[in-house]
Amino acid sequence: MGYTATLARLLVLLACLAQTTSASCVVDSFPVKQDFDTRRYSGMWYGLQKRDPEGLFLQDNISANYTIDDDGVMTAHTKGRVTLFGFWVVCADMAAQYTVPDPSTPGKMFMTYQGLASYLSSGGDNYWIIDTDYDNYAITYACRVLKEDGTCDDGYAVVFSRNPRGLPPAIQRLIRRKQEEICWLGQFQPVLQSGAC
Ligand SMILES: *[C@@H]1O[C@H](CO)[C@@H](O)[C@H](O)[C@H]1NC(C)=O
Repeated sequence: MGYTATLARLLVLLACLAQTTSASCVVDSFPVKQDFDTRRYSGMWYGLQKRDPEGLFLQDNISANYTIDDDGVMTAHTKGRVTLFGFWVVCADMAAQYTVPDPSTPGKMFMTYQGLASYLSSGGDNYWIIDTDYDNYAITYACRVLKEDGTCDDGYAVVFSRNPRGLPPAIQRLIRRKQEEICWLGQFQPVLQSGAC
């Protein structure tokens, strides 16, 4: 009897866990960096890890240089290697501009980007700063397609570092917690940086 009761309790517990997990994976509920400050964020960042969306995405040597213009608008010059048409490897140069749709959540931006060559794509994505300390690390997140339950069906995230060689262990642990919060723990791959782009 003890065994069945324990098993039943365990099953109830598991069901509850499953429920809370999916509830907290609702994209709208993800916390972003509070009072995000574009000025402190500006400057060079190097991609360390990424979680790819479906389709074409930057492969490696990812870097982004953010600048703030006189009107306070943030723009970026992003580089990274891509393979086009399945075989043509190029260093892609992209330009992006950022807007803040809701001033009460400055960490939830929208990014409009253009390839600086005709064969590169243009478009727009959400650009959420999940977390950053401005001096060492940043985690950016974009969900492109939502499921009916509000969780993410297709999207990407990048872990950026000020230092292309990596991040100290304490920050790596913090980043793992954030990857868990956005429900993509274990789905990130390292971004190689040879400084070639
Ligand atoms: C980043 O952009 C700024 C402004 O255009 C420029 O002055 C700076 O040299 C750039 N940094 C790097 C590392 O390219």
